[in-house]
Amino acid sequence: MTATSPTPEPPNAPSEPARRSTSWFGADGKMGFVHRSKLYNSGRSPAMFDGRPVIGICNSWSELTPCNRHLRDIAEAVKRGVLLAGGFPLEFPTMSLGETLMRPSAMLYRNLMAMEVEENLRSYPLDGVVLLAGCDKTVPAQLMGALSADLPAIMLTGGPMLNGKFRGQDAGSGTHVWQFAEEVRAGRMSREEFGQAEACLSRSAGHCTTMGTASTMACLVEMMGLALPGSAAVPAVDAERARLAEQSGGRIVELVTEDLRPSSILDRRSFENAARFNAAIGGSTNALVHLSALAGRAEVEFPVDEFDRQARDIPLLVDLLPSGRFLMEEFSYAGGVPAVVAELGDRLHGDARTVTGRTVAENYAGARNWNTEVVHPLAEPVQPAGSATAVLHGNLAPDGAVIKLSAASPELTDHVGTALVFDTVEEYYERCDDPDLPVEASTVLVVRGAGPRGYPGMPEIGNLSIPKKLLDAGVRDIVRITDGRMSGTSYGTIVLHVAPESAAGGPLSLLRSGDRVHLDVAKRRIDMLVDDEELARRAEQAPPAGDADAPTGGWAELYRRHVGQADTGADLDFLRGRRGHAIPRRHL
Ligand code: FES
Ligand code: MG
Repeated sequence: MTATSPTPEPPNAPSEPARRSTSWFGADGKMGFVHRSKLYNSGRSPAMFDGRPVIGICNSWSELTPCNRHLRDIAEAVKRGVLLAGGFPLEFPTMSLGETLMRPSAMLYRNLMAMEVEENLRSYPLDGVVLLAGCDKTVPAQLMGALSADLPAIMLTGGPMLNGKFRGQDAGSGTHVWQFAEEVRAGRMSREEFGQAEACLSRSAGHCTTMGTASTMACLVEMMGLALPGSAAVPAVDAERARLAEQSGGRIVELVTEDLRPSSILDRRSFENAARFNAAIGGSTNALVHLSALAGRAEVEFPVDEFDRQARDIPLLVDLLPSGRFLMEEFSYAGGVPAVVAELGDRLHGDARTVTGRTVAENYAGARNWNTEVVHPLAEPVQPAGSATAVLHGNLAPDGAVIKLSAASPELTDHVGTALVFDTVEEYYERCDDPDLPVEASTVLVVRGAGPRGYPGMPEIGNLSIPKKLLDAGVRDIVRITDGRMSGTSYGTIVLHVAPESAAGGPLSLLRSGDRVHLDVAKRRIDMLVDDEELARRAEQAPPAGDADAPTGGWAELYRRHVGQADTGADLDFLRGRRGHAIPRRHL
């Protein structure tokens, strides 16, 4: 068998810059033969090897990640765009992280997926990449890998599902599940009704419909200039998303020609814009962990306190669950990210760079807000400035902790209460419905051992159910503290991401039930009211809670040995930074 026309001349006249892929497909002799030959088995034409940009389509499609299940269709649209622009598209799968199914937590595997993506980009004959992701961890994982490899890259997120509908009302992913579950525990909803809601909340392909982590990350990726303007909020099943996929495919070919890489786009301004934007949309606390990790990969200095500092004068503009009323579908129709950018105006760095080759200001010039109920004007915000995620410090969290104020009860944000401490989340749930649990509305409920090393994987356990005894008494919120995370779809007065975590010997491990704890958000403090001598005595007596050094073998052991704390993004120490995409040694 021969190909339909001879193998083309080695590409790239001397005046053209050599492409990475040329090292594979432009090679003479047996090496070039082997590299091209196998790809002919899919019936490709020799023209594909003429030196055109080879574009990887990095796909986190998986039936185990239902939020990403449509990404194979999206990939076909990306391919059309790549071909139209004169590139050679090659789709490849990556590990996928299904938030709802993976145990102990999809977060345990974010860094593994990032590592896999990075190594794929470096080891294959790729000149640029389109990243396809949607569900919570798949977006940061792909981006982390792409930033470290620093090939020209553009992300297209998968878009949200259509609004959930239950009994004629909109119902949002996550948020309504937590609400309904509490209703069942309080006896106001039957188990049968609860079961009926299951399918109603997931009506189409796409990610969660609330401003949870997936929606937040989609918006922030766009705001940071790594996705096409206007792409974040469009529903997964809207034809517009396929058009955006085509356009992303077209644009990546140009990005390769322009050699515009993430390192020439991202800088401090991009991260400041993301932090400010996160405040305006009432974004997920998880964004702080993921953006810290991304800053580490991009080698941009952006300490976790910056999220607080940047957000302080940004009001909450977007009225979406879990902090507000609407869902992503309405947000999309209101104009999505461009509508918020239009309202924020000069609160953003208009000169930050983006994948379009233009600045933020140029990309969004003329953007309009089409529904001021969903996206409020700056002058009439949903909540005033200062309601975003605050970063706390104190003797309980020397390296930081976070609290999402837009989801907290204002009366609990300056609160002294008695701690009730649990070393594991399982221990808490064994006892939380016990009528004799020593808990009052003023109790500060603490669950530790849920950090990156301790669990391991820093799971979303922070939205701890209210003890039944309090629920029956009509209490809907109490102060909760953990070194874990919470779902971006959750709400409540919950102090999260305590660093260092208890399993790493953080002072959280010294707290005992009965100690007094003071949460003072205005002063950005979280302290246990225990004197230093007593804490020193406890430190000598008791080893840190948790068993972080227990050998487990496999990935979990590598993870536990190398994972950093929440304030630096819970990345592995040896994965931070850029390693580039130098062409590896050849073996033929
Ligand atoms: Fe995948 Fe929420 S579970 S986005
Ligand atoms: Mg989530």
